[in-house]
Amino acid sequence: IRVADWIRPADSVSTVAHRGASGYAPENTMPAFQLALELNADYLELDIQLTKDKVPVIIHDPTVDRTTNGTGNVRDMTLEQIERLDAGSWFNDKYPMFARDRYANLQIPTLDQLFAEFGGRVHYLIEIKDPSYNKGIESLLNQYIERYDLDNKVTVQSFSEKSLKKIHDINPEIPLYQIVWCDSPYTQFMDISFKRIKSYAVGVSPNFQGINAAFVNQAKKKGLKVMIYTINYQGNMEKAIHWGADGVYTNYPDRFQEVLDKR
Ligand code: G3P
Ligand code: CA
Repeated sequence: IRVADWIRPADSVSTVAHRGASGYAPENTMPAFQLALELNADYLELDIQLTKDKVPVIIHDPTVDRTTNGTGNVRDMTLEQIERLDAGSWFNDKYPMFARDRYANLQIPTLDQLFAEFGGRVHYLIEIKDPSYNKGIESLLNQYIERYDLDNKVTVQSFSEKSLKKIHDINPEIPLYQIVWCDSPYTQFMDISFKRIKSYAVGVSPNFQGINAAFVNQAKKKGLKVMIYTINYQGNMEKAIHWGADGVYTNYPDRFQEVLDKR
């Protein structure tokens, strides 16, 4: 590749608060999202799943085991059962340096509660998890987006191309990111894959450890935005910017802000 063809750092690089400011507060909870806003994040990143009674709730794993005091599959529990769980004490136990009394007994938020709380004050990057467990989640998500008039504030992402295409069919105005996992820094993503992604999505979200500058360059040459997950060290954040990333997912939005401030 000739130097003149090489993508330069983007003029503006978005801060994506991964599961909220999840380095400092329990992931995917209201305090994590509130803190992300206070730390100037551009996007709140969050993961949604459906309860047994088909309510979209904000939780990363298909089970409640890791991030609450309960056990079991989200899809087998009603909202009432989900709301009884403590989604914060695990964080206080695991990260005593960031523990806060107010994190104990936090609830898993619903998508409805999140939109009601923050409305159009921020952008949301919403990940549809495990669509096979969450049938119908795409149209439900769109209903909430429309109810809160957030068409211009929500971007949807998923590992599932099928799920993204469903969203595209339901509401073509919603920008989409295809999340990908690359196994090693030597993996070359085929041009044909970028072309395919470009047919329904505005961007691609790869894992930082599995890509390199050439990946970002090729994706951007195909007209895709690139937001890279999940970067918590400032040296790696600088690298991502240098590669031309349009956004960086981080658990520590303040660390990325410091890097941006030095530019
Ligand atoms: O949202 C992109 C990235 O977050 C995917 O990884 O496991 O943190 O949802 P995960
Ligand atoms: Ca995610």
